[in-house]
Amino acid sequence: MAEIKEIRRVETERASIHSHITGLGIDESGKPKPKADGLVGQLEAREAAWIVVQLIRQGKMAGKGILLVGPPGTGKTALAVGIAKELGEDTPFNTLNASEIYSVDIKKTEVLTQALRKSIGVRVRQRRMVYEGVVKEIRVKIARSKVNPYVQIPREVEIKLGTTEEERTLTAGESIAEQINKMGIRKGDVIWIDAETGNVVKMGKAKGFEGAKTYDIEAGKLVDIPSGPVKKEKELTNTFTLYDLDMTLAAQSLSITAIFSLWSEREISQDVRKQVDAYVKDMISKGSAELIPGVLFIDDAHMLDIETFSFLTKALEAELAPILVLATNRGTTRIRGTDVESPHGMPLDLLDRLLIITTRPYTKEESKDIIAIRAEELDIELEPMALDELTNMASEESLRYAIQLLEPSQVLARKAGRAVVKADDVKEASKLFSDVKRSVKYVKDYENLFLK
Ligand SMILES: Nc1ncnc2c1ncn2[C@@H]1O[C@H](COP(=O)(O)OP(=O)(O)O)[C@@H](O)[C@H]1O
Ligand SMILES: [Mg+2]
Repeated sequence: MAEIKEIRRVETERASIHSHITGLGIDESGKPKPKADGLVGQLEAREAAWIVVQLIRQGKMAGKGILLVGPPGTGKTALAVGIAKELGEDTPFNTLNASEIYSVDIKKTEVLTQALRKSIGVRVRQRRMVYEGVVKEIRVKIARSKVNPYVQIPREVEIKLGTTEEERTLTAGESIAEQINKMGIRKGDVIWIDAETGNVVKMGKAKGFEGAKTYDIEAGKLVDIPSGPVKKEKELTNTFTLYDLDMTLAAQSLSITAIFSLWSEREISQDVRKQVDAYVKDMISKGSAELIPGVLFIDDAHMLDIETFSFLTKALEAELAPILVLATNRGTTRIRGTDVESPHGMPLDLLDRLLIITTRPYTKEESKDIIAIRAEELDIELEPMALDELTNMASEESLRYAIQLLEPSQVLARKAGRAVVKADDVKEASKLFSDVKRSVKYVKDYENLFLK
């Protein structure tokens, strides 16, 4: 499963340099605030992104996409993160760097298909029979493991569950006993047990339950004692992505020996995907599930090639399609895999389907605000002179370079025994870590030496 881990890793990295962004910073009348939700300036682009969020919510973006165009470091990725935050947690948001499709051991279309399917959610409503109540008494029977005599395992559990109206004592076997043991479920906890699967879920501590121990520190969430009968039907909602469903089904049809051989190179078969699609459509038509098209964000989209562009254009037309957000910092350039020059290095039939949002370079004041927000997010205290120094670097080199220097500067300040970062720390850090312009010049200057 190496290829999947790879994609995840990039996601978390992306998330971290944009962790200060919590939305698009729009007020009640739909106008962008100068500084809100971690975002500064870039007002037109933010307003446009907000309109896109409305269109997505109204289901009017199906078969269309967005193209974010602007120089490096002008907040294209930041805007995409803002869109995702506005759409809410339940909406899948998935990031792919265009270069990630060129992997040696997995096909380009497979990487893209997996990314597309990670970006489509299915909200499943299920009515299940459960036993629900506050734990009034609990007794776990321990036995010695047959496999390893030094290990004691819970064999059986007797549990008395109560609601405001009823009490019921249940006896359950090993798998439930084990979950209860692992979760540390105790008297006074409100839990429910899935009558069919035996899944145990802890909801919290019962409010005002006398039996609960007073010295319990990790009391957790306080919840009401459930009413009605102990055994009842409960409606559960869960959101999965199509990719989750693919993986689950694929794993089920995999024999145990495959774990040792083919697993690492495995691509999900089209057959599995067809089964999942059929299953999902069936659930939707029965009204027990609904589709949540999420967002697939492809950064550096000019790196995609002609094959993948036509694949994506087709994917936009499919019945189950996410909203595609592409970003690029290229103007007119060659479409990869062809000799054709085209705006943003993309074929025109794809461009026709995209709403284009442009981002512009920041003013000095805006850069200063962004650096300050980043520093605050990282818990780095800057002297005003240090902030000025970083702001100068942002306008001379790049905003991203200035942001990158925050943490090294803090390390240098700490080394000098200070909690506050001074301008000198910033200068020192910029000596130690080159920006791109300097590193390119360096190589040029020494090219003759390097090539000998
Ligand atoms: N308007 C903004 N408000 C706050 N932070 C921003 C803004 N624009 C960019 N940033 C931050 O500046 C850094 C560089 O921006 P980024 O989104 O990576 O640019 P791009 O994707 O256009 O190259 C990131 O840490 C990003 O979160
Ligand atoms: Mg970017």
